[in-house]
Amino acid sequence: MKKIVIHQANQMITMRGASEQPKIGEAMSDLGIIENGSLAMEGGKIVAIGTKEEVERFIVQNWGNEDVEEVNALGKIVLPGFIDPHTHLVFAGSREYELEMRLNGASYLEILQAGGGILASTRMTRAASEAALVEDTWSRLNRFLLQGVTTVEAKSGYGLTLEDELKQLRAAKQLAQKHPLDVVSTFMGAHAVPTEYKEDPEAYIKLVIEEMMPKVAAENLAEFCDVFCEAGVFSVEQSERILEAGKKHGLIPKVHADEIKPLGGAELAAKVGAVSADHLLQASDEGIQAMAEAGVVAVLLPGTAFYLMAPYARARDMIAAGVPVALSTDRNPGSSPTESLQLIMNLACLNMKMTPAEVLTATTINAAHAIGRAKEVGSLEVGKAADVIIMDAPNYAMLQYNFGTNFVESVLKNGEFVVK
Ligand code: NIG
Ligand code: FE
Repeated sequence: MKKIVIHQANQMITMRGASEQPKIGEAMSDLGIIENGSLAMEGGKIVAIGTKEEVERFIVQNWGNEDVEEVNALGKIVLPGFIDPHTHLVFAGSREYELEMRLNGASYLEILQAGGGILASTRMTRAASEAALVEDTWSRLNRFLLQGVTTVEAKSGYGLTLEDELKQLRAAKQLAQKHPLDVVSTFMGAHAVPTEYKEDPEAYIKLVIEEMMPKVAAENLAEFCDVFCEAGVFSVEQSERILEAGKKHGLIPKVHADEIKPLGGAELAAKVGAVSADHLLQASDEGIQAMAEAGVVAVLLPGTAFYLMAPYARARDMIAAGVPVALSTDRNPGSSPTESLQLIMNLACLNMKMTPAEVLTATTINAAHAIGRAKEVGSLEVGKAADVIIMDAPNYAMLQYNFGTNFVESVLKNGEFVVK
């Protein structure tokens, strides 16, 4: 089994102590930094972490003279692999023409209602084979890795027929098995009402609940169930029925909540016991309070506000209310075509006033909580996966002081170099 030790990082950013509960309030600023820190890994797991002296002692006592790969991180920072807890990763085609439509004044929902938007990606995804979806998504995953992202969530929702939803989720499963990145799947049959059900949305909801969910569960294709709770898409009442039905199949609820219109998606997330409510640009004070009380993670997606030229979510109010905040790209072909999680962090910092420390908590341990992976990943602690980034920056504040810069020098996934 390969043994690797990373020596003497300027700042070893551990994020320790929050594997059970996400970080809230001031704890979001406590990064558990070890100065001049070292990290030892073996068999894909972290086996020692601490000061240079502590880790050297561990090596002498446990590894003796065995073969060890030594990596010098002097002058650099080392941190847990980033986690992106909200993407629509698997799709075919692109929608560059919609950007000009929006620049000319068309709104995102108008484009969707006219059969474009999600429905355009649905037509392209239906026409693609499972193999083609795997191939297209593979390069997106590679770009995520170059950003330091080692775990990503992926939603279905561009199939919108039984077979095409299964095809998308099977493609995600193949990627989870073959690509070094971890891919965690969410069933989102309720992403839009497909054109052929335009006149009878209830019949589509029936299809989602009675045909799709049992198959998704039987094939073990998803852990979570998400719904686009939005004006003109799925109402709060319809979303609740869909999420409650998902729970019966063991699918944990997530909600696309209060993205464009303030509908009460945040309140719904708290009511159904969702692990996260995402977007939240228009979340109400009551919704934020309800999320804090229910412990729902807010997954904020500032790339979408940026790209749709919309007001940003109220991150400061959420943090003040005690809501655990996570960040994500929302990578998708319509409202956020990017894999640059580091740019998302810049947007969160400058446009939502999250501090450089808070954005790191939001892209590591809190993001892990948003997809139920906090016991495995999201912090550098003994026993956890050796998912590690080395960045060529002397301290973490540099990441937000600069913008649009990729500081990643190397990435390890399960103790193996995947970017070097
Ligand atoms: O999270 N809001 C709904 N779904 C995606 C966008 C999907 C698309 O436009 O293709 C989102 O923004
Ligand atoms: Fe989304």
